[in-house]
Amino acid sequence: MNKVTKAVIPAAGLGTRFLPATKALPKEMLPIIDTPNIHYIVKEAVEAGIKDILIIVSHAKEPIEDYFDVNYELETRLREAGKEKQAEEIREIANIANIFYVRQKEPKGLGNAISYARSFASGEPIAVLLGDDLIDDSERPAIGELMEAYEKTEGTILGCRKVPRERLKKYGVVKPTTKAEGKVFEVSDMIEKPKDPSLAPSDIAVLGRYVLPPEIFDVIDRTPKGVGGEIQLTDAIKLSLQLRKCYACLFTGQRYDIGDKFGYIKATIDFALRRDDLREDVLEYLRHLVD
Ligand code: UTP
Repeated sequence: MNKVTKAVIPAAGLGTRFLPATKALPKEMLPIIDTPNIHYIVKEAVEAGIKDILIIVSHAKEPIEDYFDVNYELETRLREAGKEKQAEEIREIANIANIFYVRQKEPKGLGNAISYARSFASGEPIAVLLGDDLIDDSERPAIGELMEAYEKTEGTILGCRKVPRERLKKYGVVKPTTKAEGKVFEVSDMIEKPKDPSLAPSDIAVLGRYVLPPEIFDVIDRTPKGVGGEIQLTDAIKLSLQLRKCYACLFTGQRYDIGDKFGYIKATIDFALRRDDLREDVLEYLRHLVD
């Protein structure tokens, strides 16, 4: 079975780069203007045709569950105030997909978080979307491009983009098997966060999107603890290279690193500039700043 119908969104991390906000608010609920960033991630999966989504949470992430639930009181009050359109918009969020939740008991790494998706996956491949990477401004959802690559190759698929050499140290970097030609190409290895650009096997980084094959759960169980004493997904994927081919898929959309403060600001500005209700005011303000 090579059709990808399920998505997993790991959201159980501590979000330390956004402290103090994340002391009381899940990082995934930080808004890009007026919409929590996890909404965009769920929307990407839905636009790729996925209906069943598992969000991996922790005890501190209840606002995520509330956000995707029905809020009768708010809806009733909005309707009473004649704000029918807003009430409908709020209701649509609750109907966006079949969203399931599981709690990662301790933040023991991304690989460990994914292992909680075993029963949800139930022997099928899974699309994985990380909230730190917001991908937009594309005709096609990035995860849809990866799903198509999986359906063609049946290999593990890594969502990738070229990154300037000096920034490679922040990412997993792939080693193409032969030449990095076309949109989808085989990779033979991955180096996590190369300290020096000269140690990077290419300038192609793995950016928060994956399609993982059904055996990934057994592989994670065999993966020893890595950096920070955590079970790292990169280590599991490297182990899985012995079992199945692995491909990089260069997705086309604009990508924002919203796990990083500057990336978050850039996303906020670009999203505002794409909105009719904000564009002119924001442009005028930006012009005023540089004058
Ligand atoms: P990060 O390494 O970016 O960690 O995790 P983080 O806690 O979210 O953020 P910082 O770096 O402390 O600011 C990458 C993804 O893996 C998830 C996170 O929620 C994020 O989506 N994750 C990480 C888990 O679900 N569980 C973990 O134990 C670790």
